[in-house]
Amino acid sequence: MSTSRPFNIDTDLADLHRIWQEIGWMEDSDAHRRGIKAYLDVSTTTAQDVNGAMDIGVSRCDATVHVQHTTLPACLIAGVYAGLAGRQGGHATRMTAEHVADGAAQGAAIATLGIFDQGFYDRVGFGCGPYVRRMTIEPASLNVPRLQRSPVRLTVDDAQAMHDCRLRRRRLHGAIDIPHVAYTEMECCESPGWGLGFKNSAGALTHCMWITHESKIENGPWSVRWMAWNTRDELMELLGVVKSFADQVSGVRIADPPGLQMQDLVDRPFAWMRRTGSGDNQVKPTAVAYWQHRMCDVPRCIGAISMPAADLRFNVQIDDPIEQFLASDVPWRGCGGDWIISLGDTCSAEPGCDDALPTMRASINAFTRWWMGVRSAEALSMTDALEAPAELLAGLTAHYRLPAPETDWDY
Ligand SMILES: CC(C)(COP(=O)(O)OP(=O)(O)OC[C@H]1O[C@@H](n2cnc3c(N)ncnc32)[C@H](O)[C@@H]1OP(=O)(O)O)[C@@H](O)C(=O)NCCC(=O)NCCS
Repeated sequence: MSTSRPFNIDTDLADLHRIWQEIGWMEDSDAHRRGIKAYLDVSTTTAQDVNGAMDIGVSRCDATVHVQHTTLPACLIAGVYAGLAGRQGGHATRMTAEHVADGAAQGAAIATLGIFDQGFYDRVGFGCGPYVRRMTIEPASLNVPRLQRSPVRLTVDDAQAMHDCRLRRRRLHGAIDIPHVAYTEMECCESPGWGLGFKNSAGALTHCMWITHESKIENGPWSVRWMAWNTRDELMELLGVVKSFADQVSGVRIADPPGLQMQDLVDRPFAWMRRTGSGDNQVKPTAVAYWQHRMCDVPRCIGAISMPAADLRFNVQIDDPIEQFLASDVPWRGCGGDWIISLGDTCSAEPGCDDALPTMRASINAFTRWWMGVRSAEALSMTDALEAPAELLAGLTAHYRLPAPETDWDY
């Protein structure tokens, strides 16, 4: 098995820039160089050489995920990238597996990433989250109050204040926090646009958003890259800013805020869909599942849940495909094996098998999806690698209920 090595910013940076330009992640600009430097400074990156120079890299950083009412440490695979000479040697997959193993060894309960397509990361145990819904909205159609005050402009130089605001935002089940301001700084650098927000009487930023224009400045479409808010009034005020663009911009793309449905705030959405035709500003909802998680620590993940309505115990035999990508001297070997799961007020997972209990068989991918509430046990038994006696599937489906997880942070 070939081995990767730590990234060296002094000797590898030019090669990393070359790779990122070859894959379309980087423009030859100071802003992009600044963003990438910030990202690399807080990430752990490994490199694999091809023909004597770095041609494959994987970067990760620490993060947290909110699971019900608990916060779990997570390992965020922030970038997997191969230059044009570095493809299909198995390096990207192996290095991803190595980062998950390192993250797990350092205490991550789960690993998470954004995907370029479904299937690639499934091979190391990741399973898809639910759909993330977005809608391009004609700003004039927003049913929100007219602005009563002007927002403040924010730039990349306000990254710290914006980042702090993001870390204080309203969080629901599944919310991810990336602690490093570098990630907000990088997003501002790579997505040219504007930050807009509001301050309280003490001068502290309370709610804000980053809007990008993809070079379609005059009439849009623009996109709300992210929003950070806590109260209904704050959300309405941010959407009031979006509405205030209506005389200039015909479409603003916006994700459903966590737990909400943007269509509730749009006047006559179907009429706007008909009127906006098929152009750039077409009022068009989309739903795509583009982030994936995998458990790294089964007892810690199960122990984060409280499910008083589900008084259930069962065995689960977990298959974890990651092991085949790990060198024999890597101590963390994945989550495969036999576990006894107890659900109730407090939940637990212990190694072992109790012959008196019903038994589920699941890939770690599907088991992670069930645990996070992406889909019910019954649904996963139809479309994913999860099987169990009908009575157990029905019991879990009826009593293990979580809202769909929403990361509310793209990575
Ligand atoms: C994604 C990327 C790193 C993969 O690099 P790579 O060198 O092909 O990766 P590996 O050699 O480790 O894996 C290739 C294998 O994955 C398989 N694969 C690729 N996409 C897959 C998918 N969606 N589902 C299942 N298998 C997939 C290939 O068929 C190949 O299988 P094989 O080895 O059996 O032939 C590379 O294409 C890249 O840099 N793309 C641009 C940047 C990007 O999108 N990065 C990912 C961000 S999430």
